[in-house]
Amino acid sequence: GTSLNQLLVSKGKKFWGTAADANTINIAANSAVIVSQFGAVTPENSMKWDATEPSRGSFSFSGSDFLVNWAVTNGKLIRGHTLVWHSQLPSWVSAITDKTTLTSVIQNHISNVAGRYKGKVYGELWDVCNEIFNEDGTLRSSVFSNVLGESFVTIAYEAARASDPTAKLYLNDYNLDSDNAKLRGLVALVGRVNAGTKLIDGLGTQMHLSQGGTGGVKAALTALAATGLDVAITELDIEGAVPSDYTTVINACVATPNCVSITSWGVSDPNSWRASSSPLLFDASYKPKPAYTAIVQAL
Ligand code: XIL
Repeated sequence: GTSLNQLLVSKGKKFWGTAADANTINIAANSAVIVSQFGAVTPENSMKWDATEPSRGSFSFSGSDFLVNWAVTNGKLIRGHTLVWHSQLPSWVSAITDKTTLTSVIQNHISNVAGRYKGKVYGELWDVCNEIFNEDGTLRSSVFSNVLGESFVTIAYEAARASDPTAKLYLNDYNLDSDNAKLRGLVALVGRVNAGTKLIDGLGTQMHLSQGGTGGVKAALTALAATGLDVAITELDIEGAVPSDYTTVINACVATPNCVSITSWGVSDPNSWRASSSPLLFDASYKPKPAYTAIVQAL
């Protein structure tokens, strides 16, 4: 039979995945759709800092182990998400004020979380840093940039490489949906970080879009791909989508050789973090919506 994953793989891409965690996998109709339609899972919340290291040096992996074990059992790839992010960050991290402490805290967090899942699953990928840019392309203010400056990026990628040497390491952000200032700032930083050793392997564009907001997507993917790195659509959802919004995005990825994968940020509208705007491909009964049918025709 056809599935979103098989159809995208038939176009030379690696997978079409979805966000998941225990709360959605435990809905039988939802996990049935993941099993039949998707080739990978991203933990929606369970690998974030607040979930994995709520207090310093005290790790908690029940949610992430559940997701990883489910993926292994069901033959799904995994996108690790995410190691260094200003949000869903415990206050004990935000309170750190000195470079030496914050550096070792970042390194210890990454070696424990990325190290735990090292080599677990073929094709493992990590969003190492997430949402580190302002809209004008400068570095976002966070405990990481405020204490360490831009060096936190290299510290994080070096730690991730050491913890899981074969993983593909991504830099992930939102509003990279046209060839804009934020995208250019990201590309420039990647050039600096990768100037010696290549540390960043891939660029993730979240693509939390709105109806009619897809006009710049092809140009954005082309600009990201011009780095020569892999490019992935990592959190796709489209508020108020009409089917052509979705086909515009999918066709843009298919037409961009370096665009390697697509991940939807969930399966069914009522379980979405943007639930009020019906942004996903399956309805409240876990039935495919018109956008799904349009995508299958486009692929
Ligand atoms: C969201 C989850 O979907 C929600 O359940 C949670 O309450 C907040 O985070 N960018 C990201 C994702 O990188 O991790 C976010 O996920 C959505 C925005």
